[in-house]
Amino acid sequence: MYPVKLRIYMGLVGLASLVILIVSRAFLTNLDVSVAIFAGAALLSSLFAVEMMRGQGAVSLVLPVVLTVGIVMGPAAGAWMGTIPTMNQRELTGKVKWPSVLFNRAQFAIVGWSSGEVFRALGGDVGRLSLAGLSGPLIVAALVAFGLNFFINLIAVALRQERSLKEITRVYYKWMLPSFFVMLPVGYLMAAVYRVSGPWPELIFLVPLIAVRTWMVLVKRVHEMYNHTIRVLLVGLDAKDPYTFGHSMRVGQYGAVLARYMKLPEDVVEQIRHAGMLHDIGKMAIPDEILNKRGRLTIPETFTIQRHPVLGSSMLTQVKIAGCARDWVLHHHERWDGTGYPDNMVGEEIPLETRIVSVVDAYDAMTSDRPYRQAMSHEDALKEIMEESGTQFDPLVVEKFVELCSEVNLAAEEGAGHGWDRTPNIPIEELQAEYERELQEYLAKETPQE
Ligand SMILES: [Fe+2]
Repeated sequence: MYPVKLRIYMGLVGLASLVILIVSRAFLTNLDVSVAIFAGAALLSSLFAVEMMRGQGAVSLVLPVVLTVGIVMGPAAGAWMGTIPTMNQRELTGKVKWPSVLFNRAQFAIVGWSSGEVFRALGGDVGRLSLAGLSGPLIVAALVAFGLNFFINLIAVALRQERSLKEITRVYYKWMLPSFFVMLPVGYLMAAVYRVSGPWPELIFLVPLIAVRTWMVLVKRVHEMYNHTIRVLLVGLDAKDPYTFGHSMRVGQYGAVLARYMKLPEDVVEQIRHAGMLHDIGKMAIPDEILNKRGRLTIPETFTIQRHPVLGSSMLTQVKIAGCARDWVLHHHERWDGTGYPDNMVGEEIPLETRIVSVVDAYDAMTSDRPYRQAMSHEDALKEIMEESGTQFDPLVVEKFVELCSEVNLAAEEGAGHGWDRTPNIPIEELQAEYERELQEYLAKETPQE
C-alpha cells in the first residue's frame, strides 16, 4: 500500500502530465517515420535497462532518447514519446504495480515536454545544431531533463520509504549520475545527427546503446562476484566450523533488516550485511582444537580466540574487500561500557554499524541451537538483550531492535527459508549427549587451568 503523501504526490504528477498531453494532442495527428524510429530507439533503451540495487533502480539510455525527441521534434513529441515507448521489461510483464507504471509514464512525459520547452525558450534552434559547435540551450535542456527525472523519482522514493530527501539523494545520486554523463553527449549527438542527416542514421546509436548495456551488465556482474567472494570466504569457514556459516549469514541478514529499520542509507545497509556475514571470518585462523573445544577454555586459549576480530579484519585487508566493513569486523566484540576487546572502545567511539552487528550477533547466538544448549525463545533472547542495554549494547540500538522485534520475529521469519539452516545437520540431542560425554572425559582427565 502506498503512503497517503505518496499517493497525493503521484496524483499531482499524473495530473500535470495529463494537462501536458492534452495540450500536446496535435502531435498524434502528425506521425511519421521519425516518430517510429525514435519510438523504436526509446523502447529498445527501456527494454535493455539494467536493474541495479536489487530492483530499486535501473540504468538505461531512455532519457537521452526522450531528451533528443523533445529537442528535435518539439515539446509535444517529447511528451507523447515519453509515455508508451519508455515502458521497460518489468512494466510490460506486469511486475510493477499499475500506479507506478502510470507514474513513470507521467514522469517521462513531463521530462520530454520540459526539455523541448526549455530548448525553445532559450532560443535554441535545431537548424543550427551541428556536430562541431556546442549549443547552450541544448546543455541547459539536458540539465533540466536530468534534474526533473532525478528529483521527480527521488521525491517518490523518499515518500515511499518515509526517509528524508537529503538521505535518499545521498544514496541514489551515484546510481543516477553516470546516466547523466552518458545522456548529455549521446543526446547531443542524436540531435545533431538528426539535423544533418535525417532520422535513419539515428539507428547507428543502437551500437553505443548495446555497448553501454554490455558495460552495465559487466559492472553488475562484478558486484555479484564480490558477493560470491564473500560467500566463498564463508564456505571456507563452514568447513572448519559448520555452526558459524549459518550464524554469519543470519547476522548479515538481521543486521541489514535492523539497519534498514533504523533508516540508514541503502549502501550502508549493504555494508552492514557484509560486515555481519564476515564478522567471525577471523575464526578461520584459530586452531580447530581451540575453536571446537567443548570444555572450558584456558586463559591462553581465551586469549587466542579473542584475537579473531583482529585476524578477521587483517584477512579482509589482505584480500582488499569489505571496505569500511573491515573496521566494523575489527570492533564487533567491543562493549558499550568499554570492557570489550580489542581496543576497549567506549560508547559512540564504537562505530554505529558495529553496535548494530553486536546486537544481532548476540540475538542470533541466543536463538540458535548449540551443542551445549537449546535455543532460547525469541522473547527470552530479547529480555537478555534489554538487560545488557547500556552495558554490553548501545541503548538506542537496543531500543530500535526491540521496536523492530515487536513487529517481526526475526528468528522465525528472516532466518528461515534462506538455505542457511538454523538447526545443525546432527540432531541436537545427539550433539548434546556427545558434548556431555566429552566434557566428562575431559574433566576426569585434568582440571582446567583458569
Ligand atoms: Fe565474534
